Amino acid sequence: MKKIYPDSGVELNPFVSKNYDKFMNIGSFGFYNGFIKKVIAQMKIEEDDTVLDLGCGTGRNSKLISSYLGDNGRITGLDISPEMEEQFLNTFKGDTRVKFINKRIDVPVDLGETYDKVFISFVIHGFPHEVRSEVIKNAYKHLKPGGAFYILDFAEFDMDAMPALYRFVFKKVECKYAFDYIERDWKEILSGYGFGDFEEHLYMKKYVRLLKGGKGA
Ligand SMILES: C[S@@+](CC[C@H](N)C(=O)[O-])C[C@H]1O[C@@H](n2cnc3c(N)ncnc32)[C@H](O)[C@@H]1O
Repeated sequence: MKKIYPDSGVELNPFVSKNYDKFMNIGSFGFYNGFIKKVIAQMKIEEDDTVLDLGCGTGRNSKLISSYLGDNGRITGLDISPEMEEQFLNTFKGDTRVKFINKRIDVPVDLGETYDKVFISFVIHGFPHEVRSEVIKNAYKHLKPGGAFYILDFAEFDMDAMPALYRFVFKKVECKYAFDYIERDWKEILSGYGFGDFEEHLYMKKYVRLLKGGKGA
C-alpha cells in the first residue's frame, strides 16, 4: 500500500483496516465501546440532523450517530480505505439515510451540500500540520451557519509530563504528527478559520478530548 504521507499513522494497512474495531476493543481492554457511546451522546445529535463523518472508518461512530436520527436525518461518511468502505457499507446495508464517498479529506473537497454537524475522530492528528488546514477548511465549508465541528482526538498535553508507562505506549503506537498535534492550541487554530463558541469534554485521564467549534449563524 502506497501512503500519501509515509509518516502518517492514520493511513492504515489493509490488515489493520479490516480488524480496526477489534484492535480498538482489545487495545482498550473493552473500554472503547462505553467511551465512544459517551462521546457521541455529548454531540447532542438531533433527529433531523445531517452529519458529515470525515475519515469515517468502519462506520462504528456513524452507527452510534445514526441511532439518534429519525427518518429525515442523514450521514455522509468519507474515507479512502477500500477495507473501511466495505465494512461501512456492510454496517449500513439497507439504510438509505447513510452514504459513503471514497474521497480524500486532506485536499479541497466540494460535496455540494452543507451539514448540521461535521465529525472527525482520530484522524486529524495523523496529518502533517500544513495539511490539517485543508481538513479544517473542508469542515467549515460543509457546515451550515450555526452548525458545529466536532473533533475527537488527543487533547493538548505535555508528553514529558506523562507517567512513564503511558509515555512509552504513546510513543510506540503514535506517529510523529501526533506528537506535534498535542502541543498546539487548537481553539486558537480553529478561531483562525472562523470557528468560535468552543466547548470541550475530556476523557481518558484528560489525554483525549471532544472539541466542539461552532460556525456562527
Ligand atoms: C485511526 S482511523 C479512525 C477511523 C474512525 N474515524 C474512528 O474513529 O473509528 C483513521 C481513518 O482515517 C482514514 N484516512 C486516512 N487518511 C485519509 C485521507 N487522506 N482521506 C480520507 N480518509 C483518510 C483511514 O482510512 C481510517 O479509516
